[in-house]
Amino acid sequence: MKPIKVGLLGLGTVGTGVVRIVEGHQEDLQSQTGSAIEIAKVLVSNKSKARDISIDASKLTEDPWEIIHHPDIDVIVEVMGGIEQTKQYIIEALSRGKHVVTANKDLMALHGPEILAVAQEHGCDVLYEASVAGGIPIIRTLIEGFSSDRITKIMGIVNGTTNYILTKMSQEGASYSDVLKEAQALGYAEADPTSDVEGLDAARKMTILATLGFRANVALDDVSVQGISSVSREDIQYAKRLGYELKLLGIAERQDDEFSISVQPTMVKQTHPIASVNGVFNAVYVHGEAVGETMFYGPGAGGMPTATSIVADLVAVVKNLKLGVNGKQGIMTYKEKKLKTDEQ
Ligand code: NAP
Ligand code: HSE
Repeated sequence: MKPIKVGLLGLGTVGTGVVRIVEGHQEDLQSQTGSAIEIAKVLVSNKSKARDISIDASKLTEDPWEIIHHPDIDVIVEVMGGIEQTKQYIIEALSRGKHVVTANKDLMALHGPEILAVAQEHGCDVLYEASVAGGIPIIRTLIEGFSSDRITKIMGIVNGTTNYILTKMSQEGASYSDVLKEAQALGYAEADPTSDVEGLDAARKMTILATLGFRANVALDDVSVQGISSVSREDIQYAKRLGYELKLLGIAERQDDEFSISVQPTMVKQTHPIASVNGVFNAVYVHGEAVGETMFYGPGAGGMPTATSIVADLVAVVKNLKLGVNGKQGIMTYKEKKLKTDEQ
């Protein structure tokens, strides 16, 4: 099989991790897929910027259409972020028969159903494992691992930046603003960290998890959101004295055909496993009617963990290409479900 050519949109924290894994694990990837995977072109906003990775300068472009309209590129890996412009690139790529792997929860939470419908129409894959909980394969787990069960609750820490901040405030008495700067320097935070600290990033992730877990049409507006920007060190210390840790928790619950979803700072009993999820780590607790309680744990942000999920999606796309089944899996018809309101 000829090498699979990838157009990479973005070479920041996550894009650099993707190049490292594709290059560093090439032999292993090839043995799994039967094809070499080549990063053929890379979109950046500034070609002259100093980078943490050495890359053939001729591969870099500032023109997205050079990649999206490139006749030889089979797969687009989108790790540039943003919503409207990125959506336009992805829709155009799909309409040209290119498969898409993305880490973009902002885009998938808002426009996921539309993008997946376009993908289906053109027989393309859109895979987005990296969009929730970085290195934890939670999306694949919800779609495939729990396909036989009815999930009643999904609860978790799904934002690495805020968990890093709360952990450092709790364990070291560090100041909120200092730790936020550290999380930004480590590449955990979003380009605009307001979405992390105000809970929007977690709400977007909970929208994706609840859609897949409950097999329901869940919208971002269905999530009630409160972030951590007004949490003080005193709040955290007070909770500790009472035997709790303060965590930014996403909670999605379903009862029959009704669901409720929230993201808010929550006091978690120190004896609960979620209370000891610290730093950039995430954890997702899933309760199913048949399976009972399960929990998944791992790094929730950062270049290499996130790139692990992206390259796993890339491997899945290439395997599908070999079998000729792209765009034919994961097609679900979702039941309309009712949002539980206080009046009910
Ligand atoms: P980042 O470090 O800011 O990198 C963004 C990259 O995209 C940069 O290379 C930038 O070019 C390029 N870029 C951005 N806008 C562009 C535009 N309009 N035209 C051309 N190039 C553009 O971001 P990141 O942390 O890697 O995150 C990327 C995506 O992954 C986001 O959707 C984010 O939410 C998601 N994600 C991130 C993490 C994480 O831990 N960081 C985890 C999961 C998901 P320059 O290099 O020239 O500036
Ligand atoms: N800013 C996000 C976080 C990146 O901190 O969890 C991973 O999605």
